[in-house]
Amino acid sequence: MTIISARMAVRSCKHLCARGVFSHYLPSMHAASPPLSRQISMDAQTLTARLKESGLLRSQALIGGKWSDAYDGKTIKVHNPATGEVITEVPCMGSNETKDAISSAYDAFKSWSKQTAAARSRHLRKWYDLLIAHREELGQLITLEQGKPFQEAMGEVTYGANFIEFFAEEAKRVYGDIIPSPLADRRLFVLKQPVGVVGAITPWNFPLAMITRKVGPALACGCTVVIKPSEFTPLTALAAAELALQAGIPPGAVNVVMGNSSDIGDTLLASPEVRKITFTGSTAVGKKLMAGASATVKKVSLELGGNAPCIVFDDADVDVAVKGALGAKFRNSGQTCVCANRIIVQEGIYEKFANAFSKAVQNLQVGNGFTEGVTQGPLINEAALHKVESFVQDALSKGAKVLLGGKIHSLGRTFYEPTVLGDVKSEMLISREEVFGPVAPLLRFRTEDEAIHIANDTNAGLAAYIFTNNVQRSWRVTEALEYGLVGVNEGIISTEVAPFGGVKQSGLGREGSKYGIDEYLEMKYVCLGNMMGN
Ligand code: SIN
Repeated sequence: MTIISARMAVRSCKHLCARGVFSHYLPSMHAASPPLSRQISMDAQTLTARLKESGLLRSQALIGGKWSDAYDGKTIKVHNPATGEVITEVPCMGSNETKDAISSAYDAFKSWSKQTAAARSRHLRKWYDLLIAHREELGQLITLEQGKPFQEAMGEVTYGANFIEFFAEEAKRVYGDIIPSPLADRRLFVLKQPVGVVGAITPWNFPLAMITRKVGPALACGCTVVIKPSEFTPLTALAAAELALQAGIPPGAVNVVMGNSSDIGDTLLASPEVRKITFTGSTAVGKKLMAGASATVKKVSLELGGNAPCIVFDDADVDVAVKGALGAKFRNSGQTCVCANRIIVQEGIYEKFANAFSKAVQNLQVGNGFTEGVTQGPLINEAALHKVESFVQDALSKGAKVLLGGKIHSLGRTFYEPTVLGDVKSEMLISREEVFGPVAPLLRFRTEDEAIHIANDTNAGLAAYIFTNNVQRSWRVTEALEYGLVGVNEGIISTEVAPFGGVKQSGLGREGSKYGIDEYLEMKYVCLGNMMGN
């Protein structure tokens, strides 16, 4: 049986989301199963049928609490990236449906924002409970439409659900302020109020967690949302929305539309009723959204691309560095914004690290995410595969060396071999831009200053990692790094309780943690006069 049962795969990853995912990267003894595509084809059909029965495989959008087709009946196909098979079709929507979703969210805002924080908190808690109760089905949907290994997908469900639990709790802690007045007869207050309707545009690499990280704080403080998930991965979003309805979150508070990205995006931007845009995705699209939001002066949060350096100093513990770099690079087959994009290794430890790291990478098992033992799924589509190929070719043509892998996997289609490149230089494409695939480029450096210079020599500033046993150095380098997140001797650092976000062109604002809710709040200063009565 190739499909992993949830009970085998569930791990406790309450706080650091990917603990389970991380340990999943440890060397596996399983061999690849050769007749893969036939087995998967059968299993995918059984799975799809089971998911339909459970009511969690939805193929309509959600507007104002009603499941809806596109008004002109158009659909788009959702593919399984591992096999190319069509899982189902979903509506290909545009401006008209988005306008209706905005109106529904606007109407729902009037009552949702008036509910007590305690009531909103209870609804979110119920949603969390349902997400966890349906972890297996949600994990299956994620693996089906996104491709990540089932165990990792289950880790994402826990990670994603944790944002809802965390913000269910934070809903009750949106405190205002009282300011000591400069005048005896005045009293000054600060109220915090929900910003209004939020447009949440989310990516395919975390089909659940990037939604809950936005929608959790938005709903908690009284906002309502129109979600536009990626057209590659709408099914998890729709299942989560179904569970939100089951949790009693009122119709219209959560809407999901998908289809023509630019029509939907333009409609969200143009609407004066949408008061905030929150986006995770490419820097190029983020810049367009930021410009577009200026016409109606909306609040904007952007979580954009990274180019994460992972610096390994001579004084690092090699085992810790290998484990950390492996997790930071190969999570989701290299398809995260916080994936180590450049592994920068000091010359004294370079050979030792390169050998140990390549050995660890060699043990990663590539295949369909439903096959037991697989830790590296497919890339999202052929375009992603071609991008990876072209980055590797560019590096090789400029003097990089293949230490491991370096080509399309024998499984073909969207599978690429876990790859390690040596002698990579800063000017190569792979050092300048996110490869978003399972390729680890190793660069060499001599001094600490040089490492900091290489690390900061990019427009991006999301995540960085350093490996060292020198405490002073860990502080010095952490403070010098122009990044929003830094992992010291750790490669997996995302959690709902810590602020996630970048500096420079990696974005604006923070998600998760006690800070994440501020992005959905406005401050109102209130001055009460004549307070002494005459
Ligand atoms: C991302 O890739 O944008 C999110 C990664 C994470 O939450 O750890």
